[in-house]
Amino acid sequence: MTKEDTTVPKVFYTQPDGTERVVEAEVGDSVMQTAVRNGVPGILGQCGGSLSCATCHVFLDERHADDFAPVGEDEDDMLDVAATDREDNSRLSCRLVLAAGQEVRVTIPETQL
Ligand code: FES
Repeated sequence: MTKEDTTVPKVFYTQPDGTERVVEAEVGDSVMQTAVRNGVPGILGQCGGSLSCATCHVFLDERHADDFAPVGEDEDDMLDVAATDREDNSRLSCRLVLAAGQEVRVTIPETQL
């Protein structure tokens, strides 16, 4: 039996001006929930994670591209209407659910509204 990983996940949030903040997260929380709970500016999460606002748009560091399920159809539609133009690494951070031991780096776009 392998030992369960109990390391808390960490999210590295980079603001558009390059400043970075690291936040320890709860397993099972999303990158959006972690930002909102910890007062990280720039991630609004207005719909609470129900895929109907796109105010949780982030650019996911390419190192983590395979760490999450790919963009689904609903997420893809919402990214098309995000306030800041989407890029190849755009994700909705409410879809990025954290596992034990995970370290995730995201950059926050200029605007969410
Ligand atoms: S919080 Fe609304 S789409 Fe992610």
